[in-house]
Amino acid sequence: MNVNQQTVISDELCERFRRARRVFVLTGAGVSAESGVPTFRGGGQTAAWKGMPFDKISSAGMLERNLPEVWEWFNYRRDVIEKIEPNAAHHAIARWQQRFPDFTLVTQNVDGLHEAAGSKDVIELHGNIWRARCISCGAKYNLRDKERAAARDFTCAECGNYLRPDVVLFGEMLPVGALDRAVVKAKSAELCFVVGTSALVYPAAGFPEIAKAVGAYIVEINPEPTPLSDLCDEVIQGKAGEILPLF
Ligand code: OAD
Repeated sequence: MNVNQQTVISDELCERFRRARRVFVLTGAGVSAESGVPTFRGGGQTAAWKGMPFDKISSAGMLERNLPEVWEWFNYRRDVIEKIEPNAAHHAIARWQQRFPDFTLVTQNVDGLHEAAGSKDVIELHGNIWRARCISCGAKYNLRDKERAAARDFTCAECGNYLRPDVVLFGEMLPVGALDRAVVKAKSAELCFVVGTSALVYPAAGFPEIAKAVGAYIVEINPEPTPLSDLCDEVIQGKAGEILPLF
């Protein structure tokens, strides 16, 4: 274990960043916090909706019991996110894509802010809040389509069955393609950044462990310690939007 708690970037990390070719970045809700998207955990708080913990309302069980309530929660979240812009952290990560020959961005966020900042080929582990999917035929719909979103008409135009948010809920499997791609890239990473995640939800929290096992240098950026902090080669305690643009 080699944890350097620091507020600036070390010479070692500067040098590794300068030389790196294969870079892997895992982001979580904290990367969008400075845009105004509430995190699920952190700061001693846990998100809730109408008194229900978020992991209950965002669960496969709730989808079966009460799809309209799940839509209400996701409609609320879309309404919040719609007015929001990417921040300096999203923009810095988007610039990194140009800089490294082999760059992978894996996000647990469903808000689409990495793409809005210009990131391409983002591996969205938990789906995207701007998409709906038919529970029966799997047809997908873009919820940025104003007409559909305004009508809140969540039925499938192909088969007439119900649509659900195209996001991964608690108790559901991750999209297989996304998981496989992320594992392959984590296994070849030289430098791995873990940004704004509480590192409590697996398999996402396992990618830095995979990267570490193959010798990658692991850097965490978070104002608070996480269960991954001890595994990291460097822990930069701070806000993503303030730290990432320093590279
Ligand atoms: P969490 O809400 O669990 O954790 C957010 C993390 O961001 C915390 O560790 C905060 O300390 C940190 N943080 C807050 N502000 C920050 C800032 N300005 N810069 C950097 N870090 C900051 O979010 P996730 O780890 O993303 O899954 O949560 C993982 C998954 O749990 C989510 O994708 C979601 C949730 O349930 C599903 O919905 C399936």
